[in-house]
Amino acid sequence: MVSAEFWGDIAKEFYWKTPCPGPFLRYNFDVTKGKIFIEWMKGASTNICYNVLDRNVHEKKLGDKVAFYWEGNEPGETTQITYHELLVQVCQFSNVLRKQGIQKGDRVAIYMPMIPELVVAMLACARIGALHSIVFAGFSSESLCERILDSSCSLLITTDAFYRGEKLVNLKELADEALQKCQEKGFPVRRCIVVKHLGRAELGMGDSPSQSPPIKRSCPDVQISWNQGIDLWWHELMQEAGDECEPEWCDAEDPLFILYTSGSTGKPKGVVHTVGGYMLYVATTFKYVFDFHAEDVFWCTADIGWITGHSYVTYGPLANGATSVLFEGIPTYPDVNRLWSIVDKYKVTKFYTAPTAIRLLMKFGDEPVTKHSRASLQVLGTVGEPINPEAWLWYHQVVGAQRCPIVDTFWQTETGGHMLTPLPGATPMKPGSATFPFFGVAPAILNESGEELEGEAEGYLVFKQPWPGIMRTVYGNHERFETTYFKKFPGYYVTGDGCRRDQDGYYWITGRIDDMLNVSGHLLSTAEVESALVEHEAVAEAAVVGHPHPVKGECLYCFVTLCDGHTFSPKLTEELKKQIREKIGPIATPDYIQNAPGLPKTRSGKIMRRVLRKIAQNDHDLGDTSTVADPSVISHLFSHRCLTIQ
Ligand code: WT7
Repeated sequence: MVSAEFWGDIAKEFYWKTPCPGPFLRYNFDVTKGKIFIEWMKGASTNICYNVLDRNVHEKKLGDKVAFYWEGNEPGETTQITYHELLVQVCQFSNVLRKQGIQKGDRVAIYMPMIPELVVAMLACARIGALHSIVFAGFSSESLCERILDSSCSLLITTDAFYRGEKLVNLKELADEALQKCQEKGFPVRRCIVVKHLGRAELGMGDSPSQSPPIKRSCPDVQISWNQGIDLWWHELMQEAGDECEPEWCDAEDPLFILYTSGSTGKPKGVVHTVGGYMLYVATTFKYVFDFHAEDVFWCTADIGWITGHSYVTYGPLANGATSVLFEGIPTYPDVNRLWSIVDKYKVTKFYTAPTAIRLLMKFGDEPVTKHSRASLQVLGTVGEPINPEAWLWYHQVVGAQRCPIVDTFWQTETGGHMLTPLPGATPMKPGSATFPFFGVAPAILNESGEELEGEAEGYLVFKQPWPGIMRTVYGNHERFETTYFKKFPGYYVTGDGCRRDQDGYYWITGRIDDMLNVSGHLLSTAEVESALVEHEAVAEAAVVGHPHPVKGECLYCFVTLCDGHTFSPKLTEELKKQIREKIGPIATPDYIQNAPGLPKTRSGKIMRRVLRKIAQNDHDLGDTSTVADPSVISHLFSHRCLTIQ
C-alpha cells in the first residue's frame, strides 16, 4: 500500500526511542470481518512532547526562536515565549504533575482560556504519557462535569478568571461547580491546579516573560473561593519544580488525548487520538497545507479547546518549529479592526480561521480590513463548515487582496487533521470547494445502497483506507465508535457528510447528511440554498431547514439575519425567493422565510439546524440545548414564527 511507504519516509524525520518492529500499518475497516482497529507503527516508541520541543531545541537549534507571540484579550497585553523557554516550563510542569501522582495513562482535565499555560499544561501531560482532556472554557460547569466523569480525570487544571471581549468569566467558580457536581455523583477529583491569570499583576512576575505574561490592566475584584486540600496555585508549584524531566517513552499507539465532540444523539463522544499517527499527520498536513517556511508567522484563530486548536495551534506548528500567534481575544474587541491589526503587528504570513468569523466581519464592510496593510499575508485558510462563495470571494478579494491562495480545509475532530484541501499555489481553486484529498487520503462517494459512484456524483462522503491521524476509539465505548463510523457502510469510514464531485473531480461538501433535504424527490443541501440567500445584499447569514409539507414531502424553511441598515418586508421575501429560483431552480423556492436577528449556534459557531427545525414546527421539545451559545435567540425565534406559507 502506497500510503504506508509514504508515511514511513515521513516518520524518519522524527525521533523514535525504538523503531517500529513490525508492520507499519495494520487495520480492519470492515465490521463484518471483526473488530475495527487501526494501528500505525505499533511497537515503536517515542514521545510527542520530545519531538515538538527537545528535538527543536537540541537537534534543530531553535531554542531562541519564538514559539508563540501571545496576544491577550486587551490590546497591549502581550508576551512571547521561545522554544527553550517553553521546554523549561513544560519540564517544570511535568515534574509538578508527577509529584501530584499523575502517571502514564491517567486522565487530566484542562479548562483554561487561551494563555501560554494552556499549551504548557497539555504538553506536560503528553511528556509524562498522561491523556489531556481539554474542555473549551466557554462550556458550562455541567458540560465540564460530564466530561470529567466520562473519562474519570483525577486532576483538573484551570484559571482564576479571564476576559472574553468585555465579558468577565469567573472560570474558577465554574470549575468549582463542576467539581462539586462530580463529588455529588460519587467521583471526587483529587486536585485542582489554578493559574493566576487575571490576578497575575499581584504576583510581581510581570517583567519576566519566561515566567508569565505581564498584565497591564489592574486586577479586577474577582472573588475566588479556595478548597483546602484540593486547590493548588500553579505558580507556587512551579517555583519548587526542577526544570529537567525525562519524557515517558510511549508506544506509537498509546493514547495521547481525549477530545469530546457532540454526537447526533445527545451524549458527547470522547474522541481518542494516539501518539505516533497523530504526530505524523498534524506535522505533515501543517507543512504542506500552509506551505510552511521557517520564517513564517502562523496564526490559527481557533481556541485550543477545539481540535483545530489542538492540531494547528499546538502540535502541528510546534512539530515544524514554527512561530505562531496565540490569541486570547475575539475578532470584535475592542473593535472589528482587531484581527487585521494583529496581522500587521506580527507580520502574519499564514492565517487560518472559520467561515463564521469571515461572515461576521463581512457585515462591517471592507474599510476595517483595507485600512490595514496585510502585506505579510501569503496564505488564507478556512475550516469548520462549508464556506459560501460570497464569503470565500470576500476573503480572497478583500482580506487577501487577490494575492493569497485560500485553503478550504475539510476535516473533523475524528480525522485529527486535514482530509480534503487545496495545496496553496498548486491546486487551482474553486470558491466553496475543499478541492482534493490530502496525500494518502482515499475518499469515495457512496449512494444509499453503499455503491461507490464514479465521476460526477453526489452522496455520502466516506474514506476507504486509514490515514495516520484517524481516531482510534470513542473513550470507554468502542462499540459506539464502530456503530457511528463503520456500521452503515462496512469497509468504509463514514464522515456523516454529504458530498458532490463535479466534472473536474473537485469535491464539494454539501453539509451533514442530516442537513440534506428532499423536496419533491429532489435532494437539496441546506448549504447551497443558504449560499444563494447570502448572496443577496440584505442578508448577512442564513440557515435553512427542512419542514414537513403535504405535497412536496419536505419544503424549505429559511431563517435570515439581515445586514445592518436593511429591514425585513414582503418585498424582500419576494426578492429572496426570486434569487433562489434563479440560482438553483424553482424546486428550491422556499415556502417560509423568517427574519432572525440571531441564530442558535454552538460556541464554536456552528448553526444548530436541529433546533431550528423544531422552531419551524413549533415543537418546544428541543432536547439537549446545553451547547447553545446564546439561548435567548431561541425564544425570540419561537415567538416570531411564520404561520402561513408566504
Ligand atoms: C464537521 C466536523 C475540523 C475542525 C473543525 C470542525 C464540517 C469542517 C469543513 C469544510 C465543509 C466542513 C463538516 C465536518 N466541516 N470543515 N472545510 N467544508 N464542511 O470539527 O466539530 O469535528 O466538525 O465540520 O460537516 O463533518 P468538528
